[in-house]
Amino acid sequence: MNNIEKLVRARRSVRTFDGRDVKKEDREKLYAFMENIENPYGLPVEFRLLEKMGCPVVVGTELYVGAKMKDALHINEAVGFAFEKLVLYAQSLGIGTVWIGGTMDRAAFEKKMELAEDEVMPAVSPLGYPANKMSVRETMMRKGIKADDRLGFESIVYWNDFTQPLTPDAAGKLFLPLEMVCLAPSAVNKQPWRMVVTDDVVHFYLQRSKGFGGGKLDMQKIDLGIALCHFDLMAKELGIQTEFALSEPDISHPDGTEYIASYKFKL
Ligand SMILES: Cc1cc2nc3c(=O)[nH]c(=O)nc-3n(C[C@H](O)[C@H](O)[C@H](O)COP(=O)(O)O)c2cc1C
Repeated sequence: MNNIEKLVRARRSVRTFDGRDVKKEDREKLYAFMENIENPYGLPVEFRLLEKMGCPVVVGTELYVGAKMKDALHINEAVGFAFEKLVLYAQSLGIGTVWIGGTMDRAAFEKKMELAEDEVMPAVSPLGYPANKMSVRETMMRKGIKADDRLGFESIVYWNDFTQPLTPDAAGKLFLPLEMVCLAPSAVNKQPWRMVVTDDVVHFYLQRSKGFGGGKLDMQKIDLGIALCHFDLMAKELGIQTEFALSEPDISHPDGTEYIASYKFKL
């Protein structure tokens, strides 16, 4: 997948599709891609295309993709990473998606996914070609969530510890990978990711939003998986070497903030 910056900037949640079936060649490309989506946690995620499904916020397509996996530690971050890769790949084919973790008939989707007792289905997304005009419901929904707003770079990226924001200028070659995190989708657009950059590591933290409790399926940890994905794909495309690590540094962090993972990097 090329041109990550362009794909990230162009992606938005699509909830209004134009009613056309996804072309055979596009389905085949999606199938092929879905077979080999890795994530840094090494947890297998199975994707399935689901026909004749629907959910209340989506119009104009009945094709969905669902993800399921065996329950384990770090499933949320892992699926966040893997599913977002698929979202960006779909974008590269001109296919619209929207992460759906809440607004669906879960039981119906889990049945269609043939979910086993020891498996979880974190999210699904419709697939189709975006309509030219959003439905009224979608327009209202975007306004309600403030879906087009993002926190500023310096509100979420820090230098060395949580006391000093990192400016875009000072971020240098890391600016774009970090900026790609700022632009990522997140549940109810809460953008719970925070990054602490040091000379050779970026540490990712989750700043938990009120009312978003962390259960087995934890939408905000999925958001962090998405953040890791955007960072890593952009860094690699720029020729920055990255190495994933689960090793919490000795950095004091604000209440309600929790360490998730790190990327060591070589510019
Ligand atoms: C983990 C996750 C779960 C989400 N669940 C839903 C959902 O259940 N229903 C929905 O309409 N949008 C859902 N969204 C989409 C977000 O509302 C959307 O990404 C955010 O408002 C930013 O808008 P954008 O994707 O257009 O940039 C979800 C997003 C993420 C990342």
